[in-house]
Amino acid sequence: MKLLTAFEQFQLPALPFGEGREGKLVRLAILLSGRGSNMLALVEATKTGVLKGLAEVVVVFSNKPDAFGLEAAAALGCPIASLPSQGRKREAFDADAAHLLQQYQPDLVVLAGYMRILSPAFIQPFAGRILNIHPADTHHHQGLHAYEWAFENRLPETKITVHLVDEGLDTGPILAQQTVDLRGADTLVEVERRGLAVEHELYARTLAELIQKQN
Ligand code: GRF
Repeated sequence: MKLLTAFEQFQLPALPFGEGREGKLVRLAILLSGRGSNMLALVEATKTGVLKGLAEVVVVFSNKPDAFGLEAAAALGCPIASLPSQGRKREAFDADAAHLLQQYQPDLVVLAGYMRILSPAFIQPFAGRILNIHPADTHHHQGLHAYEWAFENRLPETKITVHLVDEGLDTGPILAQQTVDLRGADTLVEVERRGLAVEHELYARTLAELIQKQN
């Protein structure tokens, strides 16, 4: 994986009372709105994979109380929380969501299919500590339907991107990218299958590398 400037500059927040990070698990809050396959991969990684001994999932949160991913997280024994966003003004909802999440004292907020553009009310309390995964190179495609875009344009490859979140739509500094070979992928289902396999591995590995480089 190519190391990029934002990756090199990334710093976890300092612990209170000048404690060292040595041996402390980094606290992850995972946010989702739907199916939750990235969340599952991350939880697995904390239990038996590259994040074992490095991070723990302190809450899985959704703006959709009926999201399948929440149910799946609960079945794995993860603490879950939700707050319906429907009908709420963006800033007011984001302030409430940030307040709720702060109670879990996350070090990192990990977006995994969280289908919302975040306002300053959410970003400021977690500035520099919110990550997202996007199923395309964010320089070339932002927003929804990235696999459809790759499929419809018959792209020979796409680039999964892990990036820091700012107030734009998929505009934050890139932490890691990995190419997916799409040659011979004849259906959208196959494009997604190949892409998600890379997403699940790349997200956990990027987090592990970010955490390891702090120690
Ligand atoms: C993934 O493709 C992710 O890159 C994008 O939304 C999708 C979420 O899928 N941001 P899942 O809920 O993790 O299965």
